[in-house]
Amino acid sequence: MKKLLFASHTPSDNTRKLSQHCLAKMHAYSETVEIYHKPPLEITSDDGLTCDGLVIATTENIGYMAGLTKDMFDRCYNDWLYHTDGLPVAFYIRAGLDGTATANTLGRFAHALRWRMVRPPLILKGDYITDFEEQVAELGGGFAAGLEAGIF
Ligand SMILES: Cc1cc2nc3c(=O)[nH]c(=O)nc-3n(C[C@H](O)[C@H](O)[C@H](O)COP(=O)(O)O)c2cc1C
Repeated sequence: MKKLLFASHTPSDNTRKLSQHCLAKMHAYSETVEIYHKPPLEITSDDGLTCDGLVIATTENIGYMAGLTKDMFDRCYNDWLYHTDGLPVAFYIRAGLDGTATANTLGRFAHALRWRMVRPPLILKGDYITDFEEQVAELGGGFAAGLEAGIF
């Protein structure tokens, strides 16, 4: 079984809905892919070291990823460096206005850790619309399908 780690920061009803939609599509592949869903505060270095793929969901706050998402990197970065090379990753960002700065920062972290971004970060910005739910479902389902098929 492949291990898919889903780290999702969900400080609001909307972000919790997004997380559930993403997770539901991932679970369509749970016969071959084990899904581990945790808030970033509960992610340990071992979670990253033992997974086969990582999806990170965060909000953008004050022009940066959420503090709790950053805290995950603060605690785990040194343990992950050189030991997670090539890890397939995908990101989605819920942003009220923008999201670009967070996408760029996550891209820099991925580059520094030598992770493989399987797609550009998905930014869900502006007023909340239900279409966001389909977009995150497509991201989560596509990621799990890629792991299952050994594409990533
Ligand atoms: C303190 C604070 C700072 C924020 N800063 C930004 C920001 O810099 N850029 C942005 O696009 N959205 C910003 N937002 C909006 C959040 O990203 C948004 O509220 C969050 O993703 C939750 O989405 P929701 O309102 O759909 O639940 C901020 C929200 C808060 C509470």
